[in-house]
Amino acid sequence: MKPLLPRAPCSVDKPLRVGVLVSGSGSNLQALLDAAHQPGALFSIAVVISNVEGAFALERAGRANVPAIVCSHKGLTREAFEDRLLAELAAYDVEVVALAGFMRVLTAHFLQRYERRVVNVHPALLPSFPGMHGARQALQHGARITGCTVHLVDSGVDTGPILMQAAVPVLDDDDEAALQKRIQEQEHRLFAAMLQALARGDVVVDDAGRVRARGFPT
Ligand code: GRF
Repeated sequence: MKPLLPRAPCSVDKPLRVGVLVSGSGSNLQALLDAAHQPGALFSIAVVISNVEGAFALERAGRANVPAIVCSHKGLTREAFEDRLLAELAAYDVEVVALAGFMRVLTAHFLQRYERRVVNVHPALLPSFPGMHGARQALQHGARITGCTVHLVDSGVDTGPILMQAAVPVLDDDDEAALQKRIQEQEHRLFAAMLQALARGDVVVDDAGRVRARGFPT
């Protein structure tokens, strides 16, 4: 069993450099920015990149004095767009990429450069309810328990290896907004905890080649 990240454990003095890709409000980004400022944080947010101009996430980055860049996908091929992202990430020495509400699918072209170094947070207990609207799907199916998942990104949609999950009960009077809000509270906690675990060396590859987060309570 070895750490997924060869240089783990990272230290407070030389934290893991995380690049965050966003498209929208960025509440998960905010949770990561806040966690990166806690004493003992082993990761830092090196850059925030949005494919959407005017995304509120960019303002959150600015307030935290983190470089905030717009990299639009419009008019570009997927490969050209991904090359722009890769160039910006390289310029900021990014080691791990966190997708925090990033609404573009990344292809193998991007992923091979950051192989098993791209993480996503999803608002459902994968493999249930992939794609958009995790909370809505849980309500439509009558699920009694749903939650959120942090997983490694592969070239499918929400299909990569699961690292951590947290359960959220569906309440009798839940509507989509109420359920989504409680799921997001768990996302914020889980995403930051996962980056800290990754930096600490507690996300490991076992002898069978399976990636998992060690000893993580949800
Ligand atoms: C989150 O619910 C996340 O699970 C999904 O996109 C949403 C982004 O929300 N991937 P925010 O921009 O972090 O508030």
